[in-house]
This record gives sequence, C-alpha cells and structure tokens, in this order.
Amino acid sequence: MSQYWSEVVHKLTPYVPGEQPKIDRLIKLNTNENPYPPSPRVLAAIQQAASADLRLYPDPGSDSLRDTIAAYHGLQAEQIFIGNSSDEVLAHTFQALLKHEQPLLCPDISYSFYPVYCGLYGISYRSIPLDADFRLNVEDYLQANGGIIFANPNAPTGCLLELDKIEFLLQHNRDSVVVVDEAYVDFGGSTAITLINKYPNFLVIQTLSKSRSLAGLRVGFAAGHPDLIAGLNRVKNSFNCYPLDRLAVAGAIASFEDEAHFQQNCAAIIASRDRLTDSLNHLGFEVLSSAANFVFARHPQHEVLQLAQGLRAAGIIVRHFKQERISEFLRISIGTDVECEALVSALKILLQA
Ligand SMILES: Cc1ncc(COP(=O)(O)O)c(C=O)c1O
Repeated sequence: MSQYWSEVVHKLTPYVPGEQPKIDRLIKLNTNENPYPPSPRVLAAIQQAASADLRLYPDPGSDSLRDTIAAYHGLQAEQIFIGNSSDEVLAHTFQALLKHEQPLLCPDISYSFYPVYCGLYGISYRSIPLDADFRLNVEDYLQANGGIIFANPNAPTGCLLELDKIEFLLQHNRDSVVVVDEAYVDFGGSTAITLINKYPNFLVIQTLSKSRSLAGLRVGFAAGHPDLIAGLNRVKNSFNCYPLDRLAVAGAIASFEDEAHFQQNCAAIIASRDRLTDSLNHLGFEVLSSAANFVFARHPQHEVLQLAQGLRAAGIIVRHFKQERISEFLRISIGTDVECEALVSALKILLQA
C-alpha cells in the first residue's frame, strides 16, 4: 500500500508465478519448463547475434521471425504477431480484442493469468464451469459474450479439447473474438492454427517457452486474421515498439530451423509423461489424461498439500493451487526420466509414512 499508487494499482490482484528457487540441486517440477536444453543451433545463433550490432535497436516487428513462423505454419506474415513471451501477447490480446460491453467467457479452471488481465484492463468476465471431469463443454459458451478465451490443452488440468469442438464453437460464435492459448499443444494436441483462414474472429497464441525449451528467451506469438493482428500491433506500438531483442529473434528463428530436435524433444516428454502417469496410477493416484508437459493428480487417501511439503523437504518442488475444485490436486511438470524416478521414489516413501 502506498499513497503514491494509482487507484488501478490499489485494486490489482497480480499473478503469482511458480517458485524459482535460488537453491541448487532442487528438482524443479513446478513451472512446466522443459527439462531438456534448446537446440544447439539456437545457442550458436544467439552467440553469433551477440555482436557489436547490439548498439542498434532491433527490428520493431521482428519481421525475420515473423516470416519464419508464417512459413512454418503456411500463413502470410500479416497473420502473425510476435511478442516478448506469450504472456505479453495475451496481455495485448485482452486489451486490444477482448474488452467489450458483454463479459468475456473463460473456464472456471484455467490459466490463472486470465482474470489478472481482466483486473488490469477493467474487463468484465464470466467463469464457465468445466464439467465434473474437468472437460470444457463448448455448448456452454453459446451465449452473449464480448470474447471467449481458453487454453488448449487446458492448464492446469492438461485436458485436450478436440479440434472439431473448437470449430463448432467458431461456427456458432461469429461476432466476438475466440482465443485459444496453445502453450502446450505440441505435447499431444493438433494446432487450431489450421482454422484461422476460415474464421476472421479466431486468434491462436503459442509460446516458445515449453516445447522449444526457451522459457528464458521470452518469445510468444499469435496467429490470426490480419485485422486482429493489426489491433495487436496498435497496442504493442502504444506500449513497447521493440518487444524482442536481437538475441531472442536470432534464437527463435534457429529453433524453427531445427525441426528434428523439436520433434525428438516433444516425443521424449510425451513418453516420460506416459511412464509417469503409469507410475502414479500404480501408487493409487488419480491422474487426469494429459496432452501437456505436466500431469494433474490427486490421491484419494492422502492430503496433497502435505505430500507437496514432503516432496519439498526431499528436494522436489511441484505446484499446488489453493483454488476451489482443484485444491486436492498436484500439478507435476514432466522432468527428465531421472527426475521423474526421483519423484516416484520420494512419493513411495511419503505414502508409506
Ligand atoms: C496456459 C499458459 N499460457 C501462457 C503461458 C505463458 O508462457 P510464456 O509467457 O512463457 O510464453 C503459460 C505459462 O506457464 C501457460 O501455462
């Protein structure tokens, strides 16, 4: 609290990110980072970009990266918007496209940054409950709205909504913008970017933080109709004209140029996720079917907060949300196989205690 804060700041409830501990040797399974390094080509490109040219501003539109991403997805450059992380792209989207008279619709259990942006930009929203199995029913969204947003696969559940259901929603919702946040889509879903040429009110947002192992580089993008992209650019150019630095642009382009590394990395995580799910089931956990790089699990006989504390004491951090309906779940990011085995061994001990 401070007398110098604006009224808006007084009213904010900021997002609280997962812990980034300063202690070494902890096994970090709490923020859905990728346990494997980015492509060596990314590191080489960043090293090359670390030159005297850093005295110059970067390209304001990150055009070379835009062209790369557009070509990768078979789109035109005008259909791509680049931002400093998908959180930034989301923030601009809320301000540019989702603030209208009718409330924004989003699932009750979803990425917890969405309500934070609503608070920041004064957007009214309505939470639509997921069903008892944490599934999104698209028919629930066929009501007056100023926009619709959800993550697919959803976070923190990991549940996937099929593309035909998304298309059903788009067919029945033509007057407001529908946004799908695909932060985790490469771990088990099919991107809905394939639908954007058919629906001018559809925006898909992705990040390089998860499947491309580049959380530290901060690169995200949106794909959609050029008019939606122009709206995002209007906000961006009223906020920060140069969101991506030269190193980020070089590294991100190199990532899209190493498809083999990307595919191997995703396949390794999917295989580990399936093994971890089996092990957790074996220990009596109920694990939601996940298409992401994390699992969401509860145990019918054990208090998960205590398990999380026990894991922390054993040097392993996972994520627990105090939110209603999901407070008995743990969200566990997929680590290397060694990390997943350490988790399972620690849980075995805690469950016996
Ligand atoms: C659903 C979802 N969207 C977006 C993000 C933000 O990703 P970034 O800002 O690293 O691009 C996250 C991060 O955890 C997420 O879970």
